[in-house]
Amino acid sequence: MFENLKPQPEDKIIKMIGMFAADPRDDKLDLGVGVYKDADGNTPVMRAVKKAEARLLESQGTKKYLGLLGNLEFIDGMRDLVLGSSVASARVTGAQTPGGTGAIRQIFELITMATPDATVWISDPSWPNHEAILKYLGMKIGKYRYFNEATCGVDFDGMMADLNGAAAGDVILLHGCCHNPTGANITLEQWGAVTDLMLAKKLMPMIDIAYQGFGDGLEADAAGVRHMASRVPEMLIAASCSKNFGLYRDRVGVALAVCEGDVALTKGALAGLNRVNFSFPPDHGATVVAIIMGDPELRADWMEEVESMRLSMLSLRGALADALRRETNSDRFDFIADHRGMFSRLGLTSEQVDTLREEYGIYMVGDSRFNVAGLPVNGLDDLAKAIAAVL
Ligand code: LMR
Repeated sequence: MFENLKPQPEDKIIKMIGMFAADPRDDKLDLGVGVYKDADGNTPVMRAVKKAEARLLESQGTKKYLGLLGNLEFIDGMRDLVLGSSVASARVTGAQTPGGTGAIRQIFELITMATPDATVWISDPSWPNHEAILKYLGMKIGKYRYFNEATCGVDFDGMMADLNGAAAGDVILLHGCCHNPTGANITLEQWGAVTDLMLAKKLMPMIDIAYQGFGDGLEADAAGVRHMASRVPEMLIAASCSKNFGLYRDRVGVALAVCEGDVALTKGALAGLNRVNFSFPPDHGATVVAIIMGDPELRADWMEEVESMRLSMLSLRGALADALRRETNSDRFDFIADHRGMFSRLGLTSEQVDTLREEYGIYMVGDSRFNVAGLPVNGLDDLAKAIAAVL
């Protein structure tokens, strides 16, 4: 039977991880996959996570199954982290999932169950796995303009014009903050205008929020989502703890649904989807998050560490923009300092990205997306020289 299998479509982020690992050069630089790195290039376990894990190891007396939805304190904690008090908690239900990707997958399947003919609209460009999962599930895909290559900002007029073409019941997937891959984000005022459009056209918002805390702060990054949640009757949210809790490999995410009326049906559907896909979600990371959220001291320490990660990325953005201004004698790359989150795109051709990799050992995704946290704090001039040389 295996001869019937077809080669899998390539994922440009996963491909680049493999290429980087296979490169024998000592001085290679990884600006690819979205993993936070400190000034020494390490991705340590976060302080509050280490402490919560120690507590868990001490206190956990059983590994027996929890319910299909996972750790309910974790779900409530994530609801509060993302939505704050924007919506009555009785209107929100959710299921723990294996990572943010698991949440996206479960939500797409929920959409298929509820409205099989709906088109899911994604930003152009978006995180490549959005389109890959939608294609795999055979769902209808629409794309809305998002990025203006000339200004390196959001093409908001284009976005609104395209969303205006969506049909009632279609799902609009928005990045909650820190747009991946562009780093260009809509303002709070624009969130208001998108919300008006959602209501007028009876569209269903779906939010992917994977970088809360990495843009303008934990609260500020959720402001747009909270505004929308306070006004729409229904909403879907996929949230990830990979980045802001550094729990990448533990696979910690949540699928949340804001409901208009009774949450029981939606809750049952999310539990049922977990059952048929993997039964019980992995517990460890989610329980660690629940411990942190439930303990004022651990929570404060976690918030402080997320904030210092954010500030370090912000200062790297400014420093790279400065170095590129010096090396290129232009303001072409000033947008890097204005963007927010873990990524921006340099706006290079794929040939220029290839040259950076082949000649300088500098790895970024083929669309010239780079991981801000991977920037070498003491090597920015060399990096800027290399980028200037391939222009
Ligand atoms: C990324 O965009 O680099 C991260 O979200 C990791 C991934 O799974 O692609």
